Amino acid sequence: MAATAGSAVGLGNIWRLPYEAGVNGGGAFILVFILCIILLGIPVMLSEFIIGRSTHKTIKSALRQLSPKTKIYRFSHFVIIGVLITLGFYSVVCGWVIEYLYQAIVGGLSGHTSSEYTQIFNGFVGNGWQCVGWTIGFLAVNFLVMGQGVQKGIERISSIMMPLLFLFLVVFAVKALFMPGFKDGIEFFLYPDFSKLTMRGVIDAMGQAFMSLSLGAAAMIIYSSYFNDDAPLAKDATIIAGVNTLVGLLAGIIIFPAVFSFGFEPQSGPRLFFEVLPGVFQQMAGGQMWAIMFFTLVFFAALTSTISLSEVVISFFHEECHMSRNSSLALTAVLAIAVASVSAMAFNVLDHVTVFGMNLFDLFNTLSSNLFMLGGGIFTAVFVGWFLDRQIIIDQLSNHGRCNRGIINFTIFALRYIAPVAVIMIFLFSTGII
Ligand code: TRP
Repeated sequence: MAATAGSAVGLGNIWRLPYEAGVNGGGAFILVFILCIILLGIPVMLSEFIIGRSTHKTIKSALRQLSPKTKIYRFSHFVIIGVLITLGFYSVVCGWVIEYLYQAIVGGLSGHTSSEYTQIFNGFVGNGWQCVGWTIGFLAVNFLVMGQGVQKGIERISSIMMPLLFLFLVVFAVKALFMPGFKDGIEFFLYPDFSKLTMRGVIDAMGQAFMSLSLGAAAMIIYSSYFNDDAPLAKDATIIAGVNTLVGLLAGIIIFPAVFSFGFEPQSGPRLFFEVLPGVFQQMAGGQMWAIMFFTLVFFAALTSTISLSEVVISFFHEECHMSRNSSLALTAVLAIAVASVSAMAFNVLDHVTVFGMNLFDLFNTLSSNLFMLGGGIFTAVFVGWFLDRQIIIDQLSNHGRCNRGIINFTIFALRYIAPVAVIMIFLFSTGII
């Protein structure tokens, strides 16, 4: 469970949720996000747990076992492509975290004005060597760690780092209480003003909920294939979703008061976290130490997430393509480095390339959550809700009758009806019908 929570808690909560909220108008977005976590996120997480724990297999063989007469298992290919694209943009941000950790160590983050922090960020991502270099450096660490076969270690890192990260976030949130922009920041982030909410915002909130819970990418299927038969799935999913959401909310409670105190734009997008946080540290006694420790914790939170993403692809090659574990790892590393390098170049060498009006990084970022995670999550929901033998769902959620069955009806209802309605809404929206 520690490893599963480690997969969920990552840059998605700390970096992505606040800027998505900023772009989409704040409080109303957060409200929809929380509703998505409860109505879709927890049920979809349970559907992945049901597939994983009932088969003890990874996605393709699990689907083949559960639905032997169909070709549904082919859906796993869509998932693998989605995971590679996710790794592609996510590792770029991990590279930014390393650069900021490095800058914190050498003292490059102290003593600047707000506009200088924007320039520092622009200067860094605009430098192709640096931006691509750190991205590849991060992935190298990721795959070297994975090559050591350190499953136990990952669990241990997660169970130490996560509470520490949480503690840090609480300390910074207390600090935010005393900032001059606190009231404006919190009002923006938490007070729902529905006039600012667009249909695009609703879809982004849904995608954000799936991304932040690591859903729709078969990662939860893999992790739950190791759960023991007594683990109470519904309770675990609720705790993971709760802690994960809380981490995201704390990040926003820190970032928005700072945004309004220092005069940044809440809409500034992926750069928001990196522009705003150095200013927060600057205002704290011992700011450099706080910055070093914080970026280290964020680095580990990101690493436990990329490990779970990479594992999906590695185990796919290993189990489905009959490659050795080492060759699968090497192939995954090459593919991830290729995709990530392209997206790291979106800010420098390839900054003139746009697709649908987005640079390549934004494209991968948006496709990852709004197409692959949502598509994957909803597929799992419909598969489990409509096609899977109901007895398997009941057995898994009640541990063969040993624990509370209360959540079963709600889960089946959500998987059968709420998730498909969500897809239809997305379809109507993206085709321009509504
Ligand atoms: N949930 C992680 C985060 O919030 C990202 C992540 C890790 C992920 N593993 C995943 C997303 C698997 C989708 C699927 O940072």
